Amino acid sequence: MGRLALILSLMLCAAPAAAQDFATLKGHGGPIMGIAVSPSGQVATGSFDNSVGLWTGTTPHWLEGHAAAVTALAWGPEGMLVSGGDDFAVRVWGDAPRVLGKHQGKVAALAVSPDGATVASGSWDGSVMLWPLDGADGTALPAPGAGVNALAWDGPETLYAATMAGALLRYDLGTGEAPVALVQHGFGINRLALGPGWIAYGAVDGGTRVLDLQTGAEIADLTLDRRPILALSYNTPTHQLAVGDGEGYIMIVDTENWQITRDFRATRQGPVWALAFSPDGKVIHAGGLDDVAYSWPVEALDVFEPGITGERSFLRAAETMPNGERQFMRKCSICHALTPGPSRKAGPTLHGVFGRRAGTVPGYSYSDTLDGSDITWNAATIDALFDQGPDHYIPGSKMPMQVIAGGSDRADLIDYLKQATKGE
Ligand code: HEC
Repeated sequence: MGRLALILSLMLCAAPAAAQDFATLKGHGGPIMGIAVSPSGQVATGSFDNSVGLWTGTTPHWLEGHAAAVTALAWGPEGMLVSGGDDFAVRVWGDAPRVLGKHQGKVAALAVSPDGATVASGSWDGSVMLWPLDGADGTALPAPGAGVNALAWDGPETLYAATMAGALLRYDLGTGEAPVALVQHGFGINRLALGPGWIAYGAVDGGTRVLDLQTGAEIADLTLDRRPILALSYNTPTHQLAVGDGEGYIMIVDTENWQITRDFRATRQGPVWALAFSPDGKVIHAGGLDDVAYSWPVEALDVFEPGITGERSFLRAAETMPNGERQFMRKCSICHALTPGPSRKAGPTLHGVFGRRAGTVPGYSYSDTLDGSDITWNAATIDALFDQGPDHYIPGSKMPMQVIAGGSDRADLIDYLKQATKGE
């Protein structure tokens, strides 16, 4: 039994000492795209459900204001939090929450300058903006040449930017000149992390490399066979670099010798989109397609053994699930809960759906199509719903079009739902 499995079984036996170590931050109604931890250890999460979660232990406090998914987060001095999202807006929270400004595309990167005076934002619209926090207007930096995915400050005058075209750029803000390209990677660069004297980047093709900031020389190539790289986080006190990828793994690297120390599967399904260490480096917070964030004690994670990959954590991979459950997890769970009561998901709970009249979950605001509909949900009607697709079966509904072409996939899904939606 791996140490993680051991931790889980301790948790299930309700051993309080072990249970404190691992936490699940539950409450968001969609995938978690961003996580940032303040110097005092406050965790913030940004989600597909348009909200920012601020966590005290495992209790969330919601910051609402974005009109679309929240994809970027950064902490500034004295508990100042900034967020950016698919609504193109850069927001600052705190005593006087406000919109700092707007891009013309998704805001994918945010970074607060080390002196706390300026927020830098990078967008898929191909611009980098600087927003002074004293209220002055934002200014655009010379164009980076492509959509921006990541930003990192190195002192108050140097800003690094990574682009969808694969460039790693350095802006010297003192000169106001066009940025210098340190790398042309060939594939989009998604993430940056800055350490003492080096910068690490993670790319769409899985490339995970580290450059010396003085010489520009490559000092480490941490690329494994996983792609894309979607998250990076560095912890100064413990010299650890964490790398999250599209296959749901987190790899931890000791940057004193550039050895991979730990490697484990960290999501139930899908990628790791967001990573952030606790200030002491003992916990790594991770988010992805599951609408919970996991807080993993680093010590408990699987030690890296070259050549060994596969299922090593307690979370089951999609491949090991029965087909019906896998269908639900992949195609429905983003929007539907299975438990009674209100959820923060986009769709109504499917708890008790068999035998239920359509459009009748109390408190859920249905489209006119389902409100007052005379459909009763059962194996035949749910089968028809995904055989024909919601756009044909219940035209005008808020459920996105999707068809499940395989009759046996629909049958397995329905069998799974019959079990999983039963009333207590
Ligand atoms: C992207 C979000 C989304 C996904 C994915 C999704 N749904 Fe829905 N679903 C909704 C929404 C929103 C509604 C409410 C529709 C309305 O009011 O018109 C809904 C309604 C329903 C209803 C009717 C519920 C009721 O109370 O009348 C059923 C049944 C249902 N979905 C099943 C599924 C199943 C099974 C899947 C996976 C195969 C799925 N949905 C995938 C968003 C989604």
